Amino acid sequence: MIEFRDVHASYDANTPILKGVSFTVDDGSFVAFVGTNGAGKSTTMRLVNGLLKPESGTVLIDGVPTTELKTSELARRVGFLFQNPDSQICCNSVREELLFGFRALGQLDDAARARVEEIIEEFGFNGDDDPFLLNRGTRQLLALASIVVLGTPVIVLDEPTTGLDFRECVKVMQIIKRLHEEGTTVIMVCHDMEVVADFAEHVIVMNDGRVVGEGPTFDVLRNRSLLAKASLIPPQVVDVSIALAFMRPDLAKTPIGSANTLDEMCEAVSEVYCAKHSR
Ligand SMILES: Nc1ncnc2c1ncn2[C@@H]1O[C@H](COP(=O)(O)OP(=O)(O)O)[C@@H](O)[C@H]1O
Ligand SMILES: [Mg+2]
Repeated sequence: MIEFRDVHASYDANTPILKGVSFTVDDGSFVAFVGTNGAGKSTTMRLVNGLLKPESGTVLIDGVPTTELKTSELARRVGFLFQNPDSQICCNSVREELLFGFRALGQLDDAARARVEEIIEEFGFNGDDDPFLLNRGTRQLLALASIVVLGTPVIVLDEPTTGLDFRECVKVMQIIKRLHEEGTTVIMVCHDMEVVADFAEHVIVMNDGRVVGEGPTFDVLRNRSLLAKASLIPPQVVDVSIALAFMRPDLAKTPIGSANTLDEMCEAVSEVYCAKHSR
């Protein structure tokens, strides 16, 4: 479990950035952080992985304050995908990049090498490629693979789909979804509310260095006043289902009136339509 207790943090003493942030992330959950630029999401992520320490308050990982954990202990528990993959990639081949984490943790053995080859295969990489000659989407995938390969129980992803085209985005999200299904705790910053609606179970809304609301994804995406507080626009499908339910009160009580994702909407429409025609 990850727990923030009244965390205050800043990059220089005169400018407070986080102004009393508290939340918990349960083991195995999939939590999305949303909010406008500058809300403090990336700063919060840096505190989760111990890159930044709180000025006051506590960040606990499995009950232990990050201030008491060594960098290597933190790295074994939390994998971190930076907002920009280029700040993560440092080796001159894909294979070396994937081995890097094991090397840094002093765990570079035969099992690690075998795991790296598995990941190369799974992601469809060429192990000899120079990471810096890959396109943006593949570099992002490599940065993600370099975390996945380590098998940490928690992964923190700062805007994992930014700069990706639709196909790359789907690929990245499918990998993240699979990790979550296998039991990994996923903490993801994401500006794309469609992605949030499709994948996250719980949403934490930040604004101006504070948590201004949180709850199950369903509740948050339908809470217009909360979203407005953080200048967020709900996914179109939520708007459509609310509008449909408004125009046709009889639909409000059906799954059409409460659909949050396109899949749910399609399912709901066919359910209601089929029910009507099988009578
Ligand atoms: N390395 C840094 N040094 C100084 N200020 C920073 C740094 N990184 C972020 N900030 C400031 O902290 C605030 C929150 O930024 P950030 O956590 O990156 O927000 P978000 O990820 O929600 O867009 C912003 O005002 C930003 O300018
Ligand atoms: Mg950010």
